[in-house]
Amino acid sequence: MPRRFYITTAIDYVNGKPHLGHAYEKVLADALARYHRQRGDATFFLTGTDEHGQKVANAAAALGQPPKTYVDGIVASFQSAWKALELTHDKFIRTTDKRHEMAVQELFVRLKDARSPKSGLPVLFENDYEGLYCEGCEAFKQEKDLDERGRCLIHQVPPKKIKETNFFFRLSEYDEALLKHLENHPEFVQPDYRRNEVLNVIKEGLQDISFSRPNISWGIPLPPEIEGGEGHTAYVWPDALLNYLSALGWPDRKYSLWWLAKQNEVGGPGAARQDEFAELDGQGRPGAAWAGTAQPQFTNAFHLIGKDISRFHCVLWPAMLLAAGVPLPRQIYVHGFIYARGGGKMSKSLGNVVDPVELAAAYSADALRFYLLRSFPTGRDGEFTLEQFVDLVNVALANELGNLASRSISMVHRYLNGVRPADWAPDSLREPEARAALGALIAAAETAHREVPAAFEEIRVHDALAAAWAPVVRANELVERVKPWVVAKDETRRAELGTALNALLETLRLVALWTWPVIPQKSEALWSQLRLAGNPGEPRGEAAAPAYGRKPLGEPALGAVEILFPKIEVKAET
Ligand code: MSP
Repeated sequence: MPRRFYITTAIDYVNGKPHLGHAYEKVLADALARYHRQRGDATFFLTGTDEHGQKVANAAAALGQPPKTYVDGIVASFQSAWKALELTHDKFIRTTDKRHEMAVQELFVRLKDARSPKSGLPVLFENDYEGLYCEGCEAFKQEKDLDERGRCLIHQVPPKKIKETNFFFRLSEYDEALLKHLENHPEFVQPDYRRNEVLNVIKEGLQDISFSRPNISWGIPLPPEIEGGEGHTAYVWPDALLNYLSALGWPDRKYSLWWLAKQNEVGGPGAARQDEFAELDGQGRPGAAWAGTAQPQFTNAFHLIGKDISRFHCVLWPAMLLAAGVPLPRQIYVHGFIYARGGGKMSKSLGNVVDPVELAAAYSADALRFYLLRSFPTGRDGEFTLEQFVDLVNVALANELGNLASRSISMVHRYLNGVRPADWAPDSLREPEARAALGALIAAAETAHREVPAAFEEIRVHDALAAAWAPVVRANELVERVKPWVVAKDETRRAELGTALNALLETLRLVALWTWPVIPQKSEALWSQLRLAGNPGEPRGEAAAPAYGRKPLGEPALGAVEILFPKIEVKAET
């Protein structure tokens, strides 16, 4: 049944060019979005850039540029990087978009009117504050977040002492509501090991959080409705988080088109019903009711983010939504980090940033996408090394899939004048090993047909690719067992030859479908060599199932062989 799927990535800071870590998250989101489109789900994929705050203002100042000029330049490099990596986002949001800025101001107006769930006090309040602010994190730090020399553990620089009057968000009162939601909806934060971290953070107690900055001009001004807010700009996190709603048109009701869904239309398991939100809200607000429908609605948003920003997404964001009377997202999926060699963090200051655009230009975007999604179990940390990348491209892509495609199509050209065989007589295979190999291939394809979608649904993209690879390996074994170059010499063995080549072509068709979300360009190139109708990314329902031995699909004659994945000959640099 077709569903609705709203997927977002974190929006990237624009104080430098995109690196491999940013690319990992975006490629993972793109593969999930493509998977959903391919199965016929109405899909909206959002990504973008987070452009305000001191960090960005500093980067602009260092170049002697006005912030907007600076961000326009860097944003272009993000957009062209995502194009080079074949991202298919439906919208690229910038927090400097006028529409977004107005939505953030509306958020502050709603927060001004909101009351906190325990004491009933205003959610937004003014207070003097003295604290240690790390510009790298764009967050106030506590002593426990610093090393023995008083430096931020992540950025290894001492935070700045700041004393000012700020507007605060009364986060401290949302612990119970959040714990209850996490208990009732274990799927809200995934994987489970990340959810446990979030539960611990909440159980340790939450602190109110500064929501405005008085002395930072590069930000969204608080709206005039906030008394005493002149000269203040919004803190970058509420500004940035709101992108997930502002991109859909919030506060206009139309945002609910993607944010919510009907029961059976939800993009994944475990959605929460709207009527739970009225209770959670703690203010008797109608929650999702102003989505304006009498039908029960379920939440549908899926946020993909990295582990360093899980507190902001799993604690602050839902608390803000509760305060503003907006239903919570369906799921926040927290992925790990891609580290540079030796396990270190990739950072501009450390000079060990791996440029995803250079890698894609040198080895193809699909090779990079495949590496990122196949090498590291989805969600876990990983370490990038060029050797492993080259190795995977050469073994899995060039030797296994590339070779299967080129040898299968070449044999059809060589032995059958390029015409797709219609023969199907598995029992005609003379050698028992050949018959067993064909049986194993068909069984592997049946398994992959079940396992690939199941793995995508559960965000195990590495498993989806592993499942898709089993038939590739089996098909190569079939070639070795049947030895078509021997069979082809004997006219009386024509049915054997046709059966084997038929099985290989059907396997290639299936592999193109299974791998399209990850390696779209190569899957499409393979599809066109196979002269199949349409595009592998189109929804095809039952026609996506293994169809060994049924009437051949596609045009009678195959296209010319083209090498999909050239073997990388260069010796990897060390
Ligand atoms: N601007 C904030 C996010 C605001 S979302 C409302 C931010 N930006 S970021 O540029 O620092 O990071 C963007 C995303 O990339 C985050 O999800 C972050 O976890 C992810 N990654 C940054 N470095 C990474 C790796 N080395 N590996 C994998 N993902 C990493 O945080």
